[in-house]
Amino acid sequence: MKIFQALEKAEALLKRERISTPRLDAEVLLCHAIGKDKHYLYKNPGKVLNDNENDLFQALVERRRGREPVAYIVGKKEFWSLDLEVTREVLIPRPDTEVVIEETLRISDELNKENLRILDVGTGSGAISIALATQLKDSTIVAVDSSMEALRIARRNAEQYEMGERIHFLCGNLLKPLSEKFDIVVSSPPYVSEAEFERLPDEIRKFEPKGALVSGKDGTECYRELVEDAKYLLESGGWLVMEIGWGQAEAIGEIIRNDGSYGDVLFRRDLGGRKRVVSARIGG
Ligand SMILES: C[S@@+](CC[C@H](N)C(=O)[O-])C[C@H]1O[C@@H](n2cnc3c(N)ncnc32)[C@H](O)[C@@H]1O
Repeated sequence: MKIFQALEKAEALLKRERISTPRLDAEVLLCHAIGKDKHYLYKNPGKVLNDNENDLFQALVERRRGREPVAYIVGKKEFWSLDLEVTREVLIPRPDTEVVIEETLRISDELNKENLRILDVGTGSGAISIALATQLKDSTIVAVDSSMEALRIARRNAEQYEMGERIHFLCGNLLKPLSEKFDIVVSSPPYVSEAEFERLPDEIRKFEPKGALVSGKDGTECYRELVEDAKYLLESGGWLVMEIGWGQAEAIGEIIRNDGSYGDVLFRRDLGGRKRVVSARIGG
């Protein structure tokens, strides 16, 4: 089969399964199967695939038809222009989380301090820590996760970008393993309720780790603990920065204000205008 025929066939199969981006997915999977980039596909539509390439491509398309996310099939995902390894042991980094990076960089400018100490809680693939380490060259970062498997992937990602020395990985429950002080505590914690989890699309519910998604009955358990515990770890004037789910701004804002230890509480919106990141300064 030629490249253009293989793509057309795969696109039709994925469309039939109501996959939202059938052509794009087919192209990414074919690139992965034959070890070439998209430019090669466009330049060589008439190239005949050999049996191995064809068999591998069909197998990848079958996995996608079963709703497995493309990132898990190809084993990587781009985040903040970094190519990160992902497996089913880590959440696939979302473009929305880049708003957390933007807000943390804004705060680091405002703090205008050398050798910032940053804590990333629930690091998953290491996306936030590695992105911040590449931007804030003299910062030191501690990255915590309760999943040893996630930390294994995060470490590999950090080493790939030569950040293994700058990021210290730690296994534990939120802020519990720590006693040292930080200028910024940043987190993209689980924020889905048990009930919402059951309604998530198969692509997420069946493939991504439940422990990376669900946070108690109403989805706010991790936020409550982070707000309560971060104040003991933040330097005076330090900031807590957290990604929040759609529609959670009011509830999380209230948790922070009720705590009474934080002053400025700011929300940052995503490109769609939704409040997706909250930052709060200790002491105000
Ligand atoms: C929503 S994912 C975010 C992953 C990554 N920061 C990102 O933005 O792609 C949440 C992460 O928190 C971790 N996690 C969940 N509960 C935790 C806990 N109690 N203590 C530490 N990490 C936890 C999960 O294993 C998962 O890696």
